[in-house]
Amino acid sequence: MNRRTFIAGGLGALALFAGGIFFAKGSLYRKAANRVHSLTEDLDARFLRQMVTADASRSRTIMWQAEEILTKPAIEYRLKGQEEVQRVPAQEDFFTDDGVKNHQYLAELQELQSDTDYEYRVVTDVAASDWHTLHTPGTGSFECLIFPDSQSSDYSDWEALAQNAARYSPKAAFFINMGDIVDNGEDHTQWQSWFYGVEGIMDRMPFSPVMGNHETYDQNWQVRLPEAYLKYFVVPENGSRDFSRYYYSFDYGDVHFIVLNSQWDETEDFKPGLMEEQLNWLREDAGKSRKKWNIVLVHKDVLQYRIHNRPERQEGFSDVGRNFMPLFDELGIDLVFTAHLHTYRNRGHIKDFRRDGRGPLYILTGVAGNVRYPGLWVDHHLDEVVAPQPETDNYLVMQVTAQEITVKCFLPDGQEIDRVTVTKDAV
Ligand SMILES: [Fe+2]
Repeated sequence: MNRRTFIAGGLGALALFAGGIFFAKGSLYRKAANRVHSLTEDLDARFLRQMVTADASRSRTIMWQAEEILTKPAIEYRLKGQEEVQRVPAQEDFFTDDGVKNHQYLAELQELQSDTDYEYRVVTDVAASDWHTLHTPGTGSFECLIFPDSQSSDYSDWEALAQNAARYSPKAAFFINMGDIVDNGEDHTQWQSWFYGVEGIMDRMPFSPVMGNHETYDQNWQVRLPEAYLKYFVVPENGSRDFSRYYYSFDYGDVHFIVLNSQWDETEDFKPGLMEEQLNWLREDAGKSRKKWNIVLVHKDVLQYRIHNRPERQEGFSDVGRNFMPLFDELGIDLVFTAHLHTYRNRGHIKDFRRDGRGPLYILTGVAGNVRYPGLWVDHHLDEVVAPQPETDNYLVMQVTAQEITVKCFLPDGQEIDRVTVTKDAV
């Protein structure tokens, strides 16, 4: 499906999401936009966040927003409990989108020690925030949170899910959002609501975003380039020729994470070649990885589902699956996390488009906002576990040790509904 057929409201599953879009364009999320939080009363700084860098053990990107232009903004950091402070001047990274000027700041902390606890704070010429924790991983065990699509008409469910997940998983080292982070990628009030949902989380653990199709929608629900997403989330530049930071990779502990971009239908008319460029890059990037585990994160799912009352739609593999799954097989990818369909499904291992224990484990991650599709999908023959229907929200916890990776799926109240483990001999 190309951009034009999508906008015209084609009858595919994406068009059903377009229905979700218009449902979601209410005013509920605007309530949250009126909340103004700052880090301290006299410091004009909010949405303080850590972003993953290519090597999480040695560096970290810190970003935040301010209402006004700051004088001498910087990040100060120190070893936890120590007095000696390092200071990194922040760069201005201002941008205007949705008619709103964002005073955004960014500082890159480099040459950090691995497996170390730090503290950092925002400072200006007149004020300083409280200290916030920052941890760099070693090569040992860790766990992280994975959130599916959080796009919403009212982000209170997202906020409750994210806050509960962080509370129930106090050891989580960083978090991932699988794309369709917001319902409308241009609407600044939705971005604000999303940020409020992870207050107290993203200042202390780094964030790895995945771009979804909704990040490419403008206020008129036409496709545009994902300008706000690219501005809000400065992720590693890993050598893309034409699509810098649309896709990227990073190392955390003994895992190499490969974050792909499935939005070539959306971007093709503006910037052609996203899929072809990524196929080459993926081979090169995964080939360079020396990590024990290689994990792919990509927004759109690899399978195609039948839809109730739509007999003409066949079960099979999506465009994303047909293009990338052979390469995942070839490159020895261990796990693939996908999203976009707003349902949780564990498909087990697939290789050469068939059930095969030698292939990657495929997890369709579910839904983390309030846009849900009860009774929509007909189960796929490759589904091994399906979340209880109709679905509420869910999140995943991934635990990584030297020998195994365990992925657990939880409902908002912390009830576990699925658990799967992938093992690998020590090397
Ligand atoms: Fe999506």
